[in-house]
Amino acid sequence: MEVVKATESVRVLVKAARSEGKKVGFVPTMGALHVGHIFLIEAAVKECDFVVVSIFVNPTQFGEGEDFEKYPRPLKADLDICRKGGVDVVFLPTPEQMYPTENITWVNVEKLTETLCGQSRPGHFRGVATVCAKLFNIVAPDIAFFGAKDAQQAVVIKRMVADLNMPVDIVVCPTVREPSGLAVSSRNKYLSEEQKKDATSIYRSLQKCEEMIKAGTKDTGIIITEMQKILNQVPSIEIEYVSIVDAESLQIIDHIIGEVLAAVSVRIGQARLIDNIPVDSDRE
Ligand code: PAJ
Repeated sequence: MEVVKATESVRVLVKAARSEGKKVGFVPTMGALHVGHIFLIEAAVKECDFVVVSIFVNPTQFGEGEDFEKYPRPLKADLDICRKGGVDVVFLPTPEQMYPTENITWVNVEKLTETLCGQSRPGHFRGVATVCAKLFNIVAPDIAFFGAKDAQQAVVIKRMVADLNMPVDIVVCPTVREPSGLAVSSRNKYLSEEQKKDATSIYRSLQKCEEMIKAGTKDTGIIITEMQKILNQVPSIEIEYVSIVDAESLQIIDHIIGEVLAAVSVRIGQARLIDNIPVDSDRE
């Protein structure tokens, strides 16, 4: 496995792999790798012949007062995970390399970023879309792998790639959860054991939503009230949003129809945790 810092080195390695006819897979990450990331790496290794993982805590997607500085950076453990996972190249750029001058070119995906985390973290998706566009230009993968854990991010990136004719396929892998139902996340490191238990109510609220939709409830207001009740039973939880949106447009809906996405964002102690569940209301 090669660990490279310079963009030019990645280009050279990927070019050489492609000239051998290899299919190039790419898993962009911010490190602090866990089983969710490992699942994406496994999918990439299975589907591609040459796999690049980037580890870059991207400053432009963090807002003022967010956890950019204290975001975990366990580099040695991350590299071990990549090595064991069969990754060919780990790309480790520095912020100075990714943003050598003041960045004045941004990718703004409109509409899809008006709700959910787009509303609660202004500018977040501008940073995500811009860094992904830059990484896609540097790595030039055939396929890039994203997790459904960050459902809005996956929808935004798919749309960016379509609207800008980027020659990369986006594959979205399902959310990996702990046995308790808690979605695995690098930010779970901020939680105590007690808070981790409290956080299981996030998935329980999403399951309640799925149950109600399957039972025929159509009014999203009624469903959201029930979800909030579950979350409000836990004193350490501060709700940021509980929303039900159309799975494609990500617009808030009053009435359940077709494929929907229920999404929750809460704060527990130092951590901001998000989770979601897709529900196809036409299916039993
Ligand atoms: P990061 O939070 O490190 O996540 C990297 C990828 O892992 C994302 O596609 C995310 O959805 C996926 N992932 C995280 N937890 C997961 C889980 N429990 N199950 C399945 N997949 C999971 O998302 C980012 O980094 C950044 O925004 C990035 C795309 C790298 C741009 O900076």
